Amino acid sequence: MAIKTIGVLTSGGDAPGMNAAVRSVVRTAISMGLKVKGIHHGYNGLIEGDIFDMNVRSVSDIIHRGGTVLYTARSPLFKTEEGINLAVENCKKHGIDGIVVIGGDGSFRGARDLSLKGIPCIGVPGTIDNDITSTEYTIGFDTAMNTAMEMVDKLRDTTQSHERCSVVEVMGRHAGWLALQTGIAVGATTILVPEVPYDFDKDIIAAIKASQATGKMHYIIVVAEGVGNVHEIAKEIEGKTGIVTRATVLGHVQRGGSPTVRDRVMASEMGYEAVKLLKDGIGNRVIAYRDNKIVNFDIYEALKMEKPFDIESYKMATNISI
Ligand code: ADP
Ligand code: F6P
Repeated sequence: MAIKTIGVLTSGGDAPGMNAAVRSVVRTAISMGLKVKGIHHGYNGLIEGDIFDMNVRSVSDIIHRGGTVLYTARSPLFKTEEGINLAVENCKKHGIDGIVVIGGDGSFRGARDLSLKGIPCIGVPGTIDNDITSTEYTIGFDTAMNTAMEMVDKLRDTTQSHERCSVVEVMGRHAGWLALQTGIAVGATTILVPEVPYDFDKDIIAAIKASQATGKMHYIIVVAEGVGNVHEIAKEIEGKTGIVTRATVLGHVQRGGSPTVRDRVMASEMGYEAVKLLKDGIGNRVIAYRDNKIVNFDIYEALKMEKPFDIESYKMATNISI
Protein backbone atom coordinates (compact mmCIF):
# COMPACT_ATOMS: atom_id res chain seq x y z
CA MET A 1 0.00 0.00 0.00
CA ALA A 2 1.38 3.40 -0.98
CA ILE A 3 1.61 5.67 2.04
CA LYS A 4 0.91 9.32 1.25
CA THR A 5 -0.32 10.73 4.56
CA ILE A 6 0.67 9.74 8.07
CA GLY A 7 -0.83 10.67 11.44
CA VAL A 8 1.02 11.19 14.70
CA LEU A 9 -0.32 10.97 18.26
CA THR A 10 0.93 10.76 21.83
CA SER A 11 -0.82 8.40 24.25
CA GLY A 12 -0.69 7.28 27.90
CA GLY A 13 1.38 9.19 30.48
CA ASP A 14 3.27 12.17 29.02
CA ALA A 15 7.06 12.03 29.04
CA PRO A 16 9.73 14.68 28.39
CA GLY A 17 11.00 14.22 24.84
CA MET A 18 7.63 13.35 23.33
CA ASN A 19 7.63 16.77 21.62
CA ALA A 20 11.07 16.11 20.16
CA ALA A 21 9.71 12.83 18.78
CA VAL A 22 6.67 14.55 17.26
CA ARG A 23 8.96 17.15 15.68
CA SER A 24 11.16 14.46 14.19
CA VAL A 25 8.19 12.51 12.82
CA VAL A 26 6.63 15.59 11.21
CA ARG A 27 9.82 16.88 9.62
CA THR A 28 11.11 13.47 8.51
CA ALA A 29 7.78 12.70 6.85
CA ILE A 30 7.59 16.05 5.08
CA SER A 31 11.20 15.72 3.90
CA MET A 32 10.20 12.36 2.37
CA GLY A 33 7.27 13.89 0.51
CA LEU A 34 4.54 12.68 2.89
CA LYS A 35 1.71 14.72 4.35
CA VAL A 36 1.24 14.76 8.12
CA LYS A 37 -1.89 14.99 10.25
CA GLY A 38 -1.62 15.68 13.97
CA ILE A 39 -4.07 13.86 16.22
CA HIS A 40 -4.91 15.50 19.55
CA HIS A 41 -5.54 13.64 22.84
CA GLY A 42 -4.20 10.22 21.87
CA TYR A 43 -6.70 7.65 20.66
CA ASN A 44 -9.58 9.86 21.85
CA GLY A 45 -8.72 12.35 19.11
CA LEU A 46 -8.79 9.59 16.54
CA ILE A 47 -12.24 8.53 17.71
CA GLU A 48 -13.56 12.09 17.86
CA GLY A 49 -11.89 13.30 14.65
CA ASP A 50 -9.71 15.86 16.45
CA ILE A 51 -7.25 15.81 13.55
CA PHE A 52 -5.41 18.69 11.86
CA ASP A 53 -2.86 19.34 9.12
CA MET A 54 0.76 19.80 10.21
CA ASN A 55 3.63 21.48 8.40
CA VAL A 56 7.30 21.98 9.25
CA ARG A 57 6.47 25.10 11.29
CA SER A 58 3.80 23.29 13.35
CA VAL A 59 6.63 21.80 15.39
CA SER A 60 8.77 24.92 15.78
CA ASP A 61 10.01 25.78 19.25
CA ILE A 62 8.97 22.52 20.92
CA ILE A 63 12.17 20.45 21.00
CA HIS A 64 13.06 21.79 24.45
CA ARG A 65 9.58 21.58 25.95
CA GLY A 66 8.29 18.86 28.27
CA GLY A 67 4.76 17.49 28.02
CA THR A 68 3.22 17.00 24.61
CA VAL A 69 1.83 19.69 22.31
CA LEU A 70 -0.49 17.02 20.88
CA TYR A 71 -1.93 16.43 24.38
CA THR A 72 -2.32 12.89 25.62
CA ALA A 73 -5.08 10.75 27.05
CA ARG A 74 -6.07 7.33 28.23
CA SER A 75 -8.97 6.19 26.09
CA PRO A 76 -11.10 3.33 27.45
CA LEU A 77 -13.46 3.60 24.42
CA PHE A 78 -10.59 2.82 22.04
CA LYS A 79 -10.31 -0.63 23.61
CA THR A 80 -13.84 -1.48 22.43
CA GLU A 81 -14.93 -2.62 18.94
CA GLU A 82 -17.07 0.51 18.64
CA GLY A 83 -14.13 2.79 19.51
CA ILE A 84 -11.65 1.22 17.16
CA ASN A 85 -14.14 1.18 14.29
CA LEU A 86 -14.77 4.92 14.78
CA ALA A 87 -10.99 5.47 14.77
CA VAL A 88 -10.61 3.54 11.50
CA GLU A 89 -13.50 5.50 9.92
CA ASN A 90 -11.82 8.77 10.87
CA CYS A 91 -8.49 7.62 9.41
CA LYS A 92 -10.28 6.96 6.13
CA LYS A 93 -12.15 10.28 6.29
CA HIS A 94 -8.91 12.23 6.84
CA GLY A 95 -6.88 10.17 4.37
CA ILE A 96 -4.54 8.82 7.07
CA ASP A 97 -2.66 5.81 5.67
CA GLY A 98 -0.52 5.05 8.73
CA ILE A 99 0.16 6.35 12.24
CA VAL A 100 3.15 6.87 14.52
CA VAL A 101 2.01 6.21 18.10
CA ILE A 102 4.28 7.61 20.82
CA GLY A 103 3.54 6.01 24.19
CA GLY A 104 3.93 2.94 26.36
CA ASP A 105 3.02 -0.75 26.11
CA GLY A 106 -0.71 0.03 26.46
CA SER A 107 -0.51 2.41 23.52
CA PHE A 108 1.37 -0.25 21.55
CA ARG A 109 -1.53 -2.67 22.11
CA GLY A 110 -3.79 -0.06 20.56
CA ALA A 111 -1.32 0.34 17.68
CA ARG A 112 -1.38 -3.42 17.11
CA ASP A 113 -5.20 -3.42 17.03
CA LEU A 114 -5.27 -0.55 14.52
CA SER A 115 -2.67 -2.28 12.36
CA LEU A 116 -4.86 -5.41 12.34
CA LYS A 117 -7.73 -3.22 11.10
CA GLY A 118 -5.67 -2.10 8.11
CA ILE A 119 -4.06 1.11 9.44
CA PRO A 120 -0.34 0.37 9.72
CA CYS A 121 1.10 1.79 12.94
CA ILE A 122 4.59 2.18 14.34
CA GLY A 123 5.07 2.48 18.12
CA VAL A 124 7.74 4.79 19.54
CA PRO A 125 8.55 4.09 23.21
CA GLY A 126 7.80 7.06 25.46
CA THR A 127 7.40 6.77 29.24
CA ILE A 128 9.39 7.92 32.24
CA ASP A 129 9.12 4.40 33.73
CA ASN A 130 11.49 2.69 31.25
CA ASP A 131 9.21 -0.32 31.63
CA ILE A 132 8.64 -1.21 27.98
CA THR A 133 9.90 -4.74 27.69
CA SER A 134 11.16 -4.66 24.10
CA THR A 135 13.53 -1.72 24.59
CA GLU A 136 16.41 -0.91 26.90
CA TYR A 137 15.47 2.76 26.83
CA THR A 138 12.27 4.80 26.70
CA ILE A 139 11.99 8.51 25.86
CA GLY A 140 11.61 10.53 29.07
CA PHE A 141 13.50 8.20 31.41
CA ASP A 142 16.72 10.21 31.50
CA THR A 143 14.97 13.52 32.17
CA ALA A 144 12.82 11.98 34.91
CA MET A 145 15.88 10.43 36.59
CA ASN A 146 17.71 13.73 36.53
CA THR A 147 14.68 15.56 37.93
CA ALA A 148 14.29 13.00 40.71
CA MET A 149 18.01 13.16 41.47
CA GLU A 150 17.96 16.97 41.73
CA MET A 151 14.93 16.86 44.01
CA VAL A 152 16.52 14.29 46.32
CA ASP A 153 19.79 16.27 46.37
CA LYS A 154 17.79 19.23 47.69
CA LEU A 155 16.10 16.99 50.19
CA ARG A 156 19.47 15.69 51.32
CA ASP A 157 20.43 19.19 52.48
CA THR A 158 17.63 19.35 55.00
CA THR A 159 17.92 15.66 55.88
CA GLN A 160 21.62 16.16 56.64
CA SER A 161 21.13 19.43 58.53
CA HIS A 162 18.54 17.92 60.85
CA GLU A 163 20.21 14.50 61.01
CA ARG A 164 17.01 12.83 59.92
CA CYS A 165 15.85 10.02 57.71
CA SER A 166 13.95 10.87 54.49
CA VAL A 167 11.72 8.39 52.74
CA VAL A 168 11.24 9.52 49.15
CA GLU A 169 8.63 8.15 46.79
CA VAL A 170 9.52 8.23 43.10
CA MET A 171 7.12 7.24 40.32
CA GLY A 172 6.69 3.69 39.11
CA ARG A 173 3.55 1.81 40.06
CA HIS A 174 4.76 -1.43 38.51
CA ALA A 175 8.39 -0.68 37.70
CA GLY A 176 11.43 0.10 39.82
CA TRP A 177 13.82 1.35 37.12
CA LEU A 178 13.42 5.00 38.04
CA ALA A 179 13.82 4.20 41.75
CA LEU A 180 16.90 2.06 41.14
CA GLN A 181 18.80 4.59 39.05
CA THR A 182 17.76 7.54 41.20
CA GLY A 183 18.63 5.61 44.36
CA ILE A 184 22.11 4.83 43.05
CA ALA A 185 22.64 8.43 41.93
CA VAL A 186 21.68 9.92 45.30
CA GLY A 187 23.48 7.31 47.40
CA ALA A 188 20.32 6.00 49.06
CA THR A 189 20.74 3.83 52.14
CA THR A 190 18.01 1.52 50.85
CA ILE A 191 16.08 1.30 47.58
CA LEU A 192 12.68 -0.40 47.51
CA VAL A 193 11.20 -1.54 44.19
CA PRO A 194 8.15 -3.63 43.28
CA GLU A 195 10.33 -6.25 41.56
CA VAL A 196 12.36 -7.20 44.66
CA PRO A 197 10.65 -8.41 47.85
CA TYR A 198 12.03 -6.90 51.03
CA ASP A 199 12.10 -7.57 54.75
CA PHE A 200 11.36 -4.38 56.70
CA ASP A 201 13.56 -5.15 59.71
CA LYS A 202 16.49 -6.58 57.78
CA ASP A 203 16.56 -4.43 54.65
CA ILE A 204 15.55 -1.10 56.17
CA ILE A 205 16.01 -1.01 59.96
CA ALA A 206 19.16 -3.12 60.10
CA ALA A 207 20.62 -1.18 57.14
CA ILE A 208 20.01 2.15 58.91
CA LYS A 209 21.45 0.83 62.18
CA ALA A 210 24.54 -0.58 60.45
CA SER A 211 25.19 2.81 58.85
CA GLN A 212 24.53 4.55 62.16
CA ALA A 213 27.13 2.34 63.83
CA THR A 214 29.77 3.61 61.39
CA GLY A 215 28.93 7.25 62.12
CA LYS A 216 26.28 8.01 59.51
CA MET A 217 23.88 10.70 60.73
CA HIS A 218 21.28 10.97 57.96
CA TYR A 219 19.57 8.45 55.73
CA ILE A 220 17.72 8.48 52.43
CA ILE A 221 15.36 5.67 51.51
CA VAL A 222 14.13 5.71 47.90
CA VAL A 223 10.83 3.92 47.35
CA ALA A 224 9.09 3.21 44.05
CA GLU A 225 5.43 4.25 44.11
CA GLY A 226 4.21 0.67 43.67
CA VAL A 227 5.88 -0.60 46.86
CA GLY A 228 3.54 0.97 49.40
CA ASN A 229 2.66 4.02 51.45
CA VAL A 230 5.77 6.10 52.19
CA HIS A 231 4.06 7.87 55.11
CA GLU A 232 3.50 4.51 56.82
CA ILE A 233 7.04 3.40 56.01
CA ALA A 234 8.40 6.64 57.54
CA LYS A 235 6.30 6.20 60.68
CA GLU A 236 7.52 2.66 61.16
CA ILE A 237 11.17 3.66 60.67
CA GLU A 238 10.82 6.45 63.23
CA GLY A 239 9.10 4.07 65.66
CA LYS A 240 11.76 1.38 65.32
CA THR A 241 14.90 3.57 65.22
CA GLY A 242 13.98 6.73 67.10
CA ILE A 243 15.38 8.76 64.17
CA VAL A 244 13.10 11.62 63.10
CA THR A 245 11.78 10.50 59.71
CA ARG A 246 9.87 12.45 57.04
CA ALA A 247 8.16 11.20 53.89
CA THR A 248 8.24 13.09 50.58
CA VAL A 249 6.29 12.21 47.46
CA LEU A 250 7.96 13.67 44.36
CA GLY A 251 4.88 13.06 42.19
CA HIS A 252 4.25 14.47 38.75
CA VAL A 253 7.17 16.93 38.76
CA GLN A 254 9.07 13.86 37.55
CA ARG A 255 7.01 13.81 34.35
CA GLY A 256 7.69 17.43 33.49
CA GLY A 257 10.52 19.71 32.47
CA SER A 258 12.78 20.32 29.54
CA PRO A 259 14.12 17.03 28.13
CA THR A 260 17.80 16.17 28.53
CA VAL A 261 20.17 15.78 25.59
CA ARG A 262 19.69 12.03 25.73
CA ASP A 263 15.90 12.27 25.49
CA ARG A 264 15.97 14.83 22.68
CA VAL A 265 18.46 12.85 20.62
CA MET A 266 16.79 9.49 21.25
CA ALA A 267 13.37 10.95 20.40
CA SER A 268 14.70 12.49 17.19
CA GLU A 269 16.31 9.23 16.09
CA MET A 270 13.35 7.05 17.00
CA GLY A 271 10.87 9.36 15.25
CA TYR A 272 13.03 9.24 12.13
CA GLU A 273 13.20 5.42 12.14
CA ALA A 274 9.44 5.15 12.63
CA VAL A 275 8.68 7.28 9.58
CA LYS A 276 11.22 5.39 7.43
CA LEU A 277 9.29 2.17 8.14
CA LEU A 278 5.86 3.67 7.52
CA LYS A 279 7.00 5.28 4.27
CA ASP A 280 7.80 1.79 2.98
CA GLY A 281 4.31 0.62 3.94
CA ILE A 282 5.63 -1.34 6.93
CA GLY A 283 3.36 -1.30 9.98
CA ASN A 284 2.68 -3.20 13.19
CA ARG A 285 6.23 -2.61 14.48
CA VAL A 286 7.74 -0.86 17.47
CA ILE A 287 10.98 1.06 17.61
CA ALA A 288 13.39 -0.11 20.31
CA TYR A 289 16.87 0.64 21.62
CA ARG A 290 19.04 -2.47 21.99
CA ASP A 291 22.83 -2.82 22.37
CA ASN A 292 23.39 0.84 21.46
CA LYS A 293 21.36 0.56 18.28
CA ILE A 294 17.90 1.58 17.20
CA VAL A 295 16.04 -1.48 15.97
CA ASN A 296 12.42 -2.49 15.43
CA PHE A 297 10.25 -5.47 16.30
CA ASP A 298 6.85 -6.85 15.39
CA ILE A 299 4.43 -5.41 17.98
CA TYR A 300 3.00 -8.80 18.86
CA GLU A 301 6.50 -10.19 19.50
CA ALA A 302 7.56 -7.03 21.35
CA LEU A 303 4.64 -7.24 23.76
CA LYS A 304 5.56 -10.84 24.63
CA MET A 305 9.16 -9.95 25.49
CA GLU A 306 10.42 -9.88 29.05
CA LYS A 307 12.75 -7.37 30.64
CA PRO A 308 14.17 -8.85 33.83
CA PHE A 309 14.92 -6.33 36.55
CA ASP A 310 18.61 -5.47 36.93
CA ILE A 311 19.26 -7.44 40.12
CA GLU A 312 23.04 -7.09 39.79
CA SER A 313 22.79 -3.32 39.83
CA TYR A 314 20.35 -3.53 42.73
CA LYS A 315 22.83 -5.68 44.70
CA MET A 316 25.66 -3.29 43.86
CA ALA A 317 23.59 -0.37 45.19
CA THR A 318 22.91 -2.28 48.41
CA ASN A 319 26.61 -3.07 48.85
CA ILE A 320 27.87 0.48 48.46
CA SER A 321 25.11 2.15 50.43
CA ILE A 322 26.59 1.61 53.89
P1 ADP B 1 0.84 3.51 28.20
O1 ADP B 1 0.77 3.62 26.72
O2 ADP B 1 1.68 4.60 28.82
O3 ADP B 1 1.19 2.11 28.67
P2 ADP B 1 -1.93 3.04 28.93
O4 ADP B 1 -1.71 1.64 29.36
O5 ADP B 1 -2.81 3.91 29.75
O6 ADP B 1 -0.60 3.86 28.78
O7 ADP B 1 -2.51 2.96 27.43
C1 ADP B 1 -2.81 4.14 26.70
C2 ADP B 1 -4.01 3.89 25.83
O8 ADP B 1 -3.72 2.83 24.91
C3 ADP B 1 -5.25 3.39 26.58
O9 ADP B 1 -6.01 4.41 27.14
C4 ADP B 1 -6.03 2.71 25.46
O10 ADP B 1 -6.72 3.64 24.65
C5 ADP B 1 -4.91 2.09 24.65
N1 ADP B 1 -4.74 0.69 25.11
C6 ADP B 1 -4.22 0.27 26.26
N2 ADP B 1 -4.30 -1.08 26.39
C7 ADP B 1 -4.93 -1.50 25.28
C8 ADP B 1 -5.32 -2.80 24.79
N3 ADP B 1 -5.10 -3.92 25.51
N4 ADP B 1 -5.93 -2.86 23.61
C9 ADP B 1 -6.15 -1.75 22.88
N5 ADP B 1 -5.80 -0.50 23.27
C10 ADP B 1 -5.21 -0.37 24.44
O1 F6P C 1 3.58 5.55 33.50
C1 F6P C 1 4.06 6.76 33.98
C2 F6P C 1 3.49 7.03 35.36
O2 F6P C 1 3.96 8.30 35.76
C3 F6P C 1 3.79 6.00 36.42
O3 F6P C 1 5.08 6.07 36.93
C4 F6P C 1 2.73 6.31 37.42
O4 F6P C 1 2.45 5.19 38.23
C5 F6P C 1 1.56 6.67 36.57
O5 F6P C 1 2.08 7.09 35.32
C6 F6P C 1 0.71 7.78 37.14
O6 F6P C 1 -0.29 8.05 36.26
P1 F6P C 1 -1.32 9.27 36.38
O7 F6P C 1 -1.04 10.15 35.21
O8 F6P C 1 -2.64 8.63 36.25
O9 F6P C 1 -1.11 9.94 37.69
